[in-house]
Amino acid sequence: MEILVTGGAGYIGSHTCLELLKAGYKVIVIDNLINSHKVSLERVEQLAGKSLTFYEQDLINKDDLKKIFTQHDIKAVIHFAGLKAVGESVNFPLSYYKNNLMSSLVLFEVMAQHNVKKLVFSSSATVYGNPKAVPITESALRSTTNPYGTTKLMIEQILEDLAISDNEWEISLLRYFNPIGAHASGLIGEDPNGIPNNLMPYITQVAAGRLEELNIYGKDYETYDGTGIRDYIHVVDLAKGHLKALEYSHKGIESFNLGTGIGSSVLDLVTTFESANGIFIKRKFVNRRSGDIASCYADVSKAKQILKWETKKSLFDMCQDAWRWQNQNPNGYLDINPKV
Ligand code: NAD
Ligand code: WQD
Repeated sequence: MEILVTGGAGYIGSHTCLELLKAGYKVIVIDNLINSHKVSLERVEQLAGKSLTFYEQDLINKDDLKKIFTQHDIKAVIHFAGLKAVGESVNFPLSYYKNNLMSSLVLFEVMAQHNVKKLVFSSSATVYGNPKAVPITESALRSTTNPYGTTKLMIEQILEDLAISDNEWEISLLRYFNPIGAHASGLIGEDPNGIPNNLMPYITQVAAGRLEELNIYGKDYETYDGTGIRDYIHVVDLAKGHLKALEYSHKGIESFNLGTGIGSSVLDLVTTFESANGIFIKRKFVNRRSGDIASCYADVSKAKQILKWETKKSLFDMCQDAWRWQNQNPNGYLDINPKV
């Protein structure tokens, strides 16, 4: 069965392509490589011992997309492609609205024209804004705090309207919490441009000596140790959730939280990383980061019950795997020959 994966060269997309190939799917990737490298897909093929089809193109180009739908017998689409940096979206909102919304609209139109109506969409816990209560259920109020988050919420709303207009659509909105870690081989992982914004890549770059020390944003949150609490999920567990969503046969639209259901603090992550890898992480406390919330973790019972999916990997595994990737590829995918 042929599955189209948009943004498949990226962090979560590459791990999902690997799981798809391992499960016997034929994989077609569209990616313009704006935030990724083709090497990730070569590594996916190496790990799977199978090849995939890659089109280096922008999803916004409708005619090119139509050709792909004509050439292949696509049964479903997993839509990862999009820009994802919160701070950048505040500075360049038009780029975010244009890229994320227009590419999605083009994709959904071409899917409808070719009668491909099964879609798995990468949404985010960011659609819950500052949650009123944790753990967060899928029915919690949605609101956003930055243009990136608003693009995710708007796409969810577009898809809700689409599902109402035509009951043949089968849409899963997967709301990811905080994906971290890497494939256990150390061959694929997260490769952020410049200085990382997110906690785990920052920690691994401090561990590697590329950054001097970790700034911990805030020590006076109303949490058990004063630092922010998040639901960190191993990227391989997350990737497997996409296969479960593909296998889930239904009509209409459903949203699912993909997380572990466990909240961990910044200090928990730092100390687990230290014990998992035997490396000290130099850190200091600084002011809260603007826009951050105290606590965000998932109620995962819906995904467990309906998708028959739950996470298997621990925070310890996430820390070990994140470090293995960083250590073997000090410069990410620019290291052509990883240390193994
Ligand atoms: P990523 O940047 O590594 O992957 C996104 C991929 O999409 C990249 O390879 C990029 O080159 C490609 N892309 C972007 N715009 C494109 C376009 N117009 N045409 C073709 N390709 C395009 O990001 P990721 O971490 O793998 O995230 C994947 C998806 O999951 C994104 O939609 C993101 O918003 C969402 N998400 C990510 C996180 C996270 O923390 N990583 C959390 C929640 C949701
Ligand atoms: C985690 C915790 C920080 C960096 C972001 C997006 C969200 C989603 C996932 C896409 C917080 C603290 C961080 C650092 C720190 N992405 N921190 N020092 O903010 O929960 O979520 O990525 O949809 O939309 O907002 O993740 O990893 O940036 O932060 O102390 O250098 O680590 O304050 O408590 P966040 P994060």
